[in-house]
Amino acid sequence: MSGPAGPGRLLIRDLEQLATPRGSGAPLRGPALGDVEVIEDAFVLTDGDRIAGVGRMADLRPLDGDVEELDGRGRCAVPGLVDCHTHACFGGDRVEEFALRAAGAGYEELHAAGGGIRSTVLATREAGEEGLREAVGRHHAWMLRAGTTTFESKSGYGLDRETELASLRVIVEEGGIPTWLGAHAVPPEVGDADAYLDFALRDVLPEAARLAEAADVFLERGAFDATQARRYLDACRDAGLALRLHGDQFTEAGAIPLAIELGARSVDHLEATGDGGVRALAGSEVVGVLLPASALFLDRPMPPARALVDAGAAVALATDFNPGSAFCESLPLVCSLAATQLHLSPAEALAAVTANAAHVVGRAGRKGRLARGYDADVVLLDAPDWRYLAYHLGGPVVAETIVAGVPTRLG
Ligand code: NIG
Ligand code: FE
Repeated sequence: MSGPAGPGRLLIRDLEQLATPRGSGAPLRGPALGDVEVIEDAFVLTDGDRIAGVGRMADLRPLDGDVEELDGRGRCAVPGLVDCHTHACFGGDRVEEFALRAAGAGYEELHAAGGGIRSTVLATREAGEEGLREAVGRHHAWMLRAGTTTFESKSGYGLDRETELASLRVIVEEGGIPTWLGAHAVPPEVGDADAYLDFALRDVLPEAARLAEAADVFLERGAFDATQARRYLDACRDAGLALRLHGDQFTEAGAIPLAIELGARSVDHLEATGDGGVRALAGSEVVGVLLPASALFLDRPMPPARALVDAGAAVALATDFNPGSAFCESLPLVCSLAATQLHLSPAEALAAVTANAAHVVGRAGRKGRLARGYDADVVLLDAPDWRYLAYHLGGPVVAETIVAGVPTRLG
């Protein structure tokens, strides 16, 4: 007996516009980053979980057989958004800390006093695997409403064997792309960072490498230094994981040279990156992942995005969704911040949350574009022009999110 039928064909018709990064390369950089193909009066045809065709309504041939139709009038289609950097697996919240910060307390100061990330570690351990599954499911639902059809999520709030592995399992079960952030902070029960890495690499890495696709480290004062980060990443690479780094968030502590030397997929944050770092990154294959919602949430300087793009670096944009430094799941809002704070064009922002973000999570051939053969992940914007994605600051710009050919029906 066969199982339930999968999605059939879906015709999204009479769209005001369809916008997608041109061509098939990734990561995009330089002028190619801002080269968006726009089709007016367009359609998207999906067949099962793939895109069967896109084009102008005038060129649409009659379709035989069963085809579900979706009215695209007043709407624009863009590729399903790819959030390549989130921390969606955590227990509790940090709303109390948020209020303290609003009253003047510093993020690093709270962390140094045992709050911050470490307070989420306690709540995450407390939540248990079922509680974490519910939390990731809730966060995933928020992301879908904001147009995110593919999300990466890091572990990193367990920092013991059981909770790190449970985190990776629930991220996979909830449809996320798992990254082992085994070096996020030193947990309270361990004396120092080196002793913690002894434990993590010996007792957690072998199983984490079976569950995760990538590894990540927080290279920063008060977390892990460059020597410790190198040790962690070397071991993770040897275990078959792709490499990512949190770097240059508060200080330049060697993240960019290390990322380049180790052939990492990305180095993320970059709020503190200076001219030398910009030049080095631009001359490399490593993608700079910009997280402007995090800079905004912490009232920190924005990363030097314009300088990076002008120097030829490949950049992606992501939310950094997490309870402490960016309680924000909205990539459209990130695109607004990219245009208003990072001085990227709406076209550059679109490529940074689609084709380039797909590259960062190792899915450039399947996700991040509206073109035949790509996954049928589509966002319909409630807008007469696709640039409302960045223009409609904080507004309900996402009308519908289609995942693998299935509308999630926001109403
Ligand atoms: O990417 N900077 C390190 N990690 C997260 C924040 C984690 C937290 O505050 O809970 C980030 O900003
Ligand atoms: Fe992060």
